[in-house]
Amino acid sequence: MSGSVTIAGLGPGAESLITPEVSAALAQATDVIGYIPYVARVPDRAGLTKHASDNRVEIDRSNHALELAAQGRRVVVVSSGDPGVFAMAAAVFEALEAGPADWRNLDITVLPGITAMLAAAARAGAPLGHDFCAINLSDNLKPWALIVKRLRLAVEGDFACAFYNPRSKARPEGFARVLEIFRETCEPERLITFARAVTTEDEAIRTVMLKDATPEMADMRTMVLLGSSATRQIERPGRAPIIYTPRQVPE
Ligand SMILES: C[S@@+](CC[C@H](N)C(=O)[O-])C[C@H]1O[C@@H](n2cnc3c(N)ncnc32)[C@H](O)[C@@H]1O
Repeated sequence: MSGSVTIAGLGPGAESLITPEVSAALAQATDVIGYIPYVARVPDRAGLTKHASDNRVEIDRSNHALELAAQGRRVVVVSSGDPGVFAMAAAVFEALEAGPADWRNLDITVLPGITAMLAAAARAGAPLGHDFCAINLSDNLKPWALIVKRLRLAVEGDFACAFYNPRSKARPEGFARVLEIFRETCEPERLITFARAVTTEDEAIRTVMLKDATPEMADMRTMVLLGSSATRQIERPGRAPIIYTPRQVPE
């Protein structure tokens, strides 16, 4: 089989954060497949067919990519951030495992991208400088009870935490419940950062104490970074504070 599927991450938003190997794969592609806003980030050019689809059709989109590759096309499946972080890479492999045996002969490559968690952490300082957990707060693909269990265990383990998909129009109440859990388990002064639309023109970074956090501070374009008990803030006159978690936990 001469076709290929490349599953590529476009980074958090800024053009400059797309890796050279992802740009090279896009320049060679015959077809680009992905969620509508991500496909829109790929410039049109002669010889490139763009297939944009809605958010909740990841397996259909993956089957389509594998079918096109089986016909000999060079397909790039695009995700925002990194394709292995709550994104298309796992979906393509799910489709591959369930699909026709000859798909396993295809050339399939995953190209990493800068995930939103790392772009957000860099903007704030180094809140993930020690051990941390990454948790997706959407209950579209897992039960809410599992989210609550993982949240409680992460906080009990005193991890800093990065939360993807904190709040959507379809799930406005979920993040309010998440904040309640934090308030039951963390001290009121715990630092929490809301990093919205990082590396885009709409970027907004805000850090508050847990006692001052409200559900409206998050939306679907926000990464929420909850500090561990060791996370600190360096105040600077006229400049944004620096949030960091020290490298060392004393004995
Ligand atoms: C379905 S997840 C996809 C994550 C993506 N694969 C990644 O590695 O960044 C979408 C969530 O990522 C976060 N996100 C993506 N881009 C972001 C950005 N530029 N700034 C802040 N958060 C972002 C938001 O929490 C959003 O709800």
